[in-house]
Amino acid sequence: MDRALILRAVDLSKTYSVGKIHVPVLNKINLELERGDLAAIQGPSGSGKTTLLNMLGGLDTPTSGEVWIERLNIALMKERELSRIRCRKIGFVFQFYNLIPNMSALYNVELPMIFAGTSKHKRRQKALSLLKTVGLADKLSNCPHELSAGEQQRIAVARALANDPALVLMDEPTGNLDKENTTNIISLIRELNNARAQTFVLTTHDPMITECAQKKLTLHHGKITQGFKDA
Ligand SMILES: Nc1ncnc2c1ncn2[C@@H]1O[C@H](COP(=O)(O)OP(=O)(O)OP(=O)(O)O)[C@@H](O)[C@H]1O
Ligand SMILES: [Mg+2]
Repeated sequence: MDRALILRAVDLSKTYSVGKIHVPVLNKINLELERGDLAAIQGPSGSGKTTLLNMLGGLDTPTSGEVWIERLNIALMKERELSRIRCRKIGFVFQFYNLIPNMSALYNVELPMIFAGTSKHKRRQKALSLLKTVGLADKLSNCPHELSAGEQQRIAVARALANDPALVLMDEPTGNLDKENTTNIISLIRELNNARAQTFVLTTHDPMITECAQKKLTLHHGKITQGFKDA
C-alpha cells in the first residue's frame, strides 16, 4: 500500500440472500485507486453499482474479500471504528440523497462537521460556502421536503464534501440535475480533484462526467472491466 494507494478492493464479493434465494451481485472484484484518481463506473440498472459503492464506503459488509482504505481493511472493522473512518476519510452521496428530514439544508451540510468536532464558526462558514458553490445560497433554511429532487441532490453533494474527505464516493450524483447544475458539480469535482488530490469514485450514465474521468470502469455480471462498453 506504499504507493499513494487510497482504495483497494481484493476479491470483493457480495451475495444477497432473500429467504432461500441467493443473489450473487459482486463476484471477486479487484480494484485499485490512487490518490487523485477520478474514476467513473458505468453498468446497467441492477448490475450492482450501488452495492459496490456501499462496500467501498463501509456502509455494508462484503460476503467475502477485503476493502482497504489506505492501510486499513475496513471489511474487518467493528461499527464504532468504521464510523470514525467514514466520518474522517469518506464522503458519500447516496443515490436517493438520504438527507435528514425536518432539518434545514444548512444543518444537513453541517452535520458531518458536527460529528468531526469542527467548531461552530468554521462549520457554518464551510457549509455556507459549499451551498453557495452548488447554487443553493437562497435555500439555506429550507428542509428537504421543501426542495426539488435536484436541489436535494446538490445538498447531498455539499454534505459529502464537508469534511474534505480523502475519498468521495458518489452514486449517480447528477442523475436529477439539468445541464447547468451538472456543469457546476463537475467543475467542483475537478477543482477538488486537481487542487487537493481528493479521490472520486462516481457511478454515472452521464457522458459529461464520464468524459472527465481518467479511469473508466464497467460493472457487468458482477465483474469490473476497464473501459466502457454499451450498458
Ligand atoms: N438489500 C438487498 N437485498 C436483496 N437484494 C438486493 C439488495 N440490495 C440490492 N439487491 C439486488 O442487488 C442487485 C444490484 O442492486 P444495485 O442497487 O447495487 O444496482 P445498481 O447497479 O445500483 O442499479 P441502479 O442503476 O438501478 O441504481 C439488484 O438485483 C438488486 O435487486
Ligand atoms: Mg444504484
